[in-house]
Amino acid sequence: VEYLKTKLPFTAEVFAYDEVDSTNTIARNMAVNGAPQGTVILADRQTRGRGRMARPFYSPSGTGLYMSLILRPNRAVLPLHITTAAAVAVAETIEHLSGEPTQIKWVNDVYCHGKKVCGILTEGSCTAEGLSYAILGIGINVFDPPQGFPTDLQSRAGSIFGAKTAIFDGIHEQIAAEIIERFWAFYGAFPGTSLYLKKYRARDMLYNKTVQILDVNGTVQKEATAMGIGDSFELLIQEEDGTANSLTSGEVSIRL
Ligand code: BTN
Repeated sequence: VEYLKTKLPFTAEVFAYDEVDSTNTIARNMAVNGAPQGTVILADRQTRGRGRMARPFYSPSGTGLYMSLILRPNRAVLPLHITTAAAVAVAETIEHLSGEPTQIKWVNDVYCHGKKVCGILTEGSCTAEGLSYAILGIGINVFDPPQGFPTDLQSRAGSIFGAKTAIFDGIHEQIAAEIIERFWAFYGAFPGTSLYLKKYRARDMLYNKTVQILDVNGTVQKEATAMGIGDSFELLIQEEDGTANSLTSGEVSIRL
């Protein structure tokens, strides 16, 4: 924690816990009680880690990085921009530390060797003027859990370093520090996104793939071909009858 504090591109508190329900919940309570921008919450394990669409996020002890960052955007910053900037920051950090390529599955998942290694959940409190605070939550599988991933996740989940048990002491803090440093540069340029839009597109995992479009209940609505990422980070698609369309992240999710 002391190391991470010295590496932050701003001055803020870092709180590290052994076990929490969800670092996003802790961060939200702190934000409501006035915690400043930049406050970082880390946990070794989460009992109720959550993802998009009310899905759980598997958060075992020892092998993952579970982190939330309190943001107080003072402009008309969109949660979608926070999420996508964080995805690029995570992708670049993984590539730098592991030497392996990554891909981003629109809108908020980072993949390595075809397996999901990171999920991102941005939660905000909106007022008429925009976000009063936002919580950027990032969950990364750094190593495979010793007992493996639960059966229902095995085909999709992976980790940055796989079965290796240690890279170096403090790898979790190093990952956190590098993600925050990269994210902070993108965040500082909002509402502009030109610093990372190309980087996001370059890692677009869905490009030219047939995707299934799911509604919030996880029911398949239709199939389409993914045609790339639009200037507002919408997913461009071509429907089966040839019609061009685009999807925004709130309403749908995508299965390959
Ligand atoms: C997803 O896969 O849909 C997003 C997963 C986000 C998980 C992270 S772990 C830290 C933070 N706390 C949570 O409860 N969720 C996020």
